[in-house]
Amino acid sequence: MSQPILDVKNLTVDFGGVRAVNSVNIQLEPGEFVGLIGPNGAGKTTIFNLITNAIKPTAGTIEFKSKNILGKSPDRICQLGISRTFQNIRLFPQMTAYENVELGFHSEPHYSLAEAFVRTPRARRIEIDTRKKAMELLEMVNLKEHSHARASSLPYGLQRRLEMARAMATNPELLLLDEPAAGMNDDECNDLIKLIREIHTTKGYTMIMIEHHMNVVMDLCRDSRIYVLNLGSLLAVGSPTEIQNNPDVVRAYLGEPKND
Ligand SMILES: Nc1ncnc2c1ncn2[C@@H]1O[C@H](COP(=O)(O)OP(=O)(O)OP(=O)(O)O)[C@@H](O)[C@H]1O
Ligand SMILES: [Mg+2]
Repeated sequence: MSQPILDVKNLTVDFGGVRAVNSVNIQLEPGEFVGLIGPNGAGKTTIFNLITNAIKPTAGTIEFKSKNILGKSPDRICQLGISRTFQNIRLFPQMTAYENVELGFHSEPHYSLAEAFVRTPRARRIEIDTRKKAMELLEMVNLKEHSHARASSLPYGLQRRLEMARAMATNPELLLLDEPAAGMNDDECNDLIKLIREIHTTKGYTMIMIEHHMNVVMDLCRDSRIYVLNLGSLLAVGSPTEIQNNPDVVRAYLGEPKND
């Protein structure tokens, strides 16, 4: 493996007496797309919370581009190039789709308040540039014609796409998607597969996707690998075929066969 972009070692977190994540190792090469699956409560979202420093680990290390990122604020993590979407959509519901994406561009201030106040040519140029880039992202996720719609008025599937556009606005190198297909029907899932593949190929991000829709995971990870988490520990890592034929994985999802 070349120099990993993300290197997670022995990541562990305890909540009270419960070990939610237990000595997990994940290494990603730049530009890889990997899946993270596992039964409910396996610890998948907790791993995203740890990588983005929303919570602190009990033990373990996280390096991004060969630098330790533990202890950095979530804002700093975002500036360093890690962005995410949330399992429970987190948009500003009263703002328009455009405004939600535009906010993503301001994770790092590009001009001072004074410049904004007197509207210097530089501040105006940056404003125009931001508008262009925000509209490009909305177009990419097929939301251009909804740019003036309030986020809360959009159907659920479109809100998920809007979250992706906002996450991309921070110009990440690592993009974490937490159940992007949640609540979607088969047709919507197929459209989403196309969109996520397009995002991955055109933007070149390194991506980790948590997902319960197996067809979405198997399709998007067909050339790469899937991490399977169970009860906080990694149970298996492998290609979609290896994972589907792994008896431990099948048991974790279906439970132990009854002997009676
Ligand atoms: N902040 C927290 N405080 C206490 N317990 C937590 C916290 N966050 C998660 N947990 C617990 O840790 C375990 C793993 O939760 P997590 O949300 O990571 O699971 P998940 O794999 O994402 O599940 P799902 O597929 O249902 O989203 C669960 O038992 C959960 O209740
Ligand atoms: Mg989760």
